[in-house]
Amino acid sequence: MGKKERAQERREQRRQQISLLRTIPYSDQQRWWSNETIAVVTGSNRGIGFEIAHQLASHGLTVVLTSRETRVGEEATKIMQEKGLNVVFHQLDIVDPASVETFSDWIKENYGGLDILINNAGVNFNFGTDNSVEYAETVIQTNYFGTKSMTKAMIPLMRPSPFGARIVNVTSRLGRLNGRRNRIANVSLRQQLEDVDSLSEELIDSTVNSFLEQVKNGTWESGGWPQVFTDYSLSKLAANAYTRLMARILSDQPEGQKIYMNCYCPGWVKTAMTDWAGHTSPEVAADTAVWLALTSDQFVSGKFFAERREINF
Ligand SMILES: NC(=O)c1ccc[n+]([C@@H]2O[C@H](COP(=O)([O-])OP(=O)(O)OC[C@H]3O[C@@H](n4cnc5c(N)ncnc54)[C@H](OP(=O)(O)O)[C@@H]3O)[C@@H](O)[C@H]2O)c1
Repeated sequence: MGKKERAQERREQRRQQISLLRTIPYSDQQRWWSNETIAVVTGSNRGIGFEIAHQLASHGLTVVLTSRETRVGEEATKIMQEKGLNVVFHQLDIVDPASVETFSDWIKENYGGLDILINNAGVNFNFGTDNSVEYAETVIQTNYFGTKSMTKAMIPLMRPSPFGARIVNVTSRLGRLNGRRNRIANVSLRQQLEDVDSLSEELIDSTVNSFLEQVKNGTWESGGWPQVFTDYSLSKLAANAYTRLMARILSDQPEGQKIYMNCYCPGWVKTAMTDWAGHTSPEVAADTAVWLALTSDQFVSGKFFAERREINF
């Protein structure tokens, strides 16, 4: 059997394990949530976000399904409500400050806050072997700055719990700092982004801004940026680094008011983002987000996961 077939076989075995794990219900003892537990999922009108919202609601939580377009968001919500699930809709465009502010006011007024935030909304404009940076600004604004803006808006609203409030960022293996085939060439920059003690928001912002500057002046190709889906990979690398940074900052929260923040890669998923070319279903792709949001024996923060396993960023 060749290397490729062996990798494929391993993937298939892992998928079967995940399917098995998904059939095991979270036990009563682990069930720390109720229908008063509020989970917000960004970009949940379709794809992986829709499935995360669906699975969380199926576990008995109240889910706020959000979408930048009201009509499609309401339609998606109706599908779940017709199944008897506790799902409500609110408009949310994560790159529109007014929308984020209106959403924050609404969640505070209606629920007094939230317990779980899934930062799922994201964009990518490349397929196959394409590597255009035509939409780099939108990609970085949405996947990194939008995620950051939602996180900052929601943290003050996260309700105290002995199990900790949870933030899960849907990122990607493409955003790993030390990926073998896709990484920033500058070793010193990689080390700075890796060192959680000296990592700062300014460093992450300046890294993505320097890429955007090079896109504008036409020099990005010799900038030593990730080689595959450059704008997307860098946006997810920034979101991964931000997860590590925030986990460090949030670790100061007193007992009972902990907020755990992790990120994960859902795999290569059959959604609009891949033009349905992935090999993982949205159902399986949603699993790790739901597990990170609900599990009671996984008090980790600032880590990166794939298929319920921690892996190096
Ligand atoms: N598919 C994969 O193979 C894969 C792999 C790794 C990571 N991911 C990540 O998984 C997440 C979900 O992707 P997907 O595959 O489910 O893609 P998708 O089907 O294209 O869904 C993306 C969702 O994000 C929403 N969105 C985009 N920009 C937004 C904004 N400014 N404000 C609010 N919502 C916004 C979209 O809304 P509209 O419907 O209005 O466009 C849509 O609901 C993304 O973060 C993606 O990067 C996907």
